[in-house]
Amino acid sequence: MTHSPKLPSAILAPSILSADFARLGEEVTSVLAAGADWIHFDVMDNHFVPNLTIGPMVCEAIRPLTDAIIDVHLMVQPVDALVPAFAKAGANVITFHPEASSHVDRTLSLIRDHGCRAGLVFNPATPLNWLDHVMDKVDIVLLMSVNPGFGGQSFISATLEKLRATRARIDAHQATGGQPIALEVDGGVKIDNIGAIRAAGADTFVAGSAIFGQPDYANVISQMRAEIAKVDAALA
Ligand code: DX5
Ligand code: ZN
Repeated sequence: MTHSPKLPSAILAPSILSADFARLGEEVTSVLAAGADWIHFDVMDNHFVPNLTIGPMVCEAIRPLTDAIIDVHLMVQPVDALVPAFAKAGANVITFHPEASSHVDRTLSLIRDHGCRAGLVFNPATPLNWLDHVMDKVDIVLLMSVNPGFGGQSFISATLEKLRATRARIDAHQATGGQPIALEVDGGVKIDNIGAIRAAGADTFVAGSAIFGQPDYANVISQMRAEIAKVDAALA
């Protein structure tokens, strides 16, 4: 329990990677009705990561179903051509991996110029110093707690220390007048570890298999919120 400033309210962002793609629209509607805040949308290109998923056309197809934030996680290389395509398709947040862009600062600006919140994603072995010169252009930092490519992997525990280090950077940035920056975690998030992840400083939680792998989405989501609330009460 390490923070002085109060953490921002928790946001739960189910990853539709683990949804039933044959009924994707229904899955999006149900998980939001079950209490989810955002829809996490995993884009994989079989080049930057070893899997191939969904693109702007699918984002455009689910956009009319909800006003909730669509959080597009680009696991693609190169990045830039997909930014306008996803903005046009209705994305609200676009995050990318810095190793996948030749010009990180330019890609961050491109995302904001298209009216979306911009984020950098850090693989487990990617150092945080990619943030050093771009803090003022980042709206969200996403720490991967698995190696990206697949749902259903186990949470890498070293992420907790990295979360604490990232939270310290964000708090220091905001303490000197910087803009708010969300701290998101993605991979292996479950009911039994979400409390520890919150305590380490996360405010936005992606969960795929933990939610879509269970019959009652509302039950999982409310248990996750209860675990977060316990930590928040202890921090208060
Ligand atoms: C992994 C994706 C994740 C994934 C999470 O490459 O970026 O968003 O869907 O799935 P779980 O929660 O099952 O680890
Ligand atoms: Zn993701």
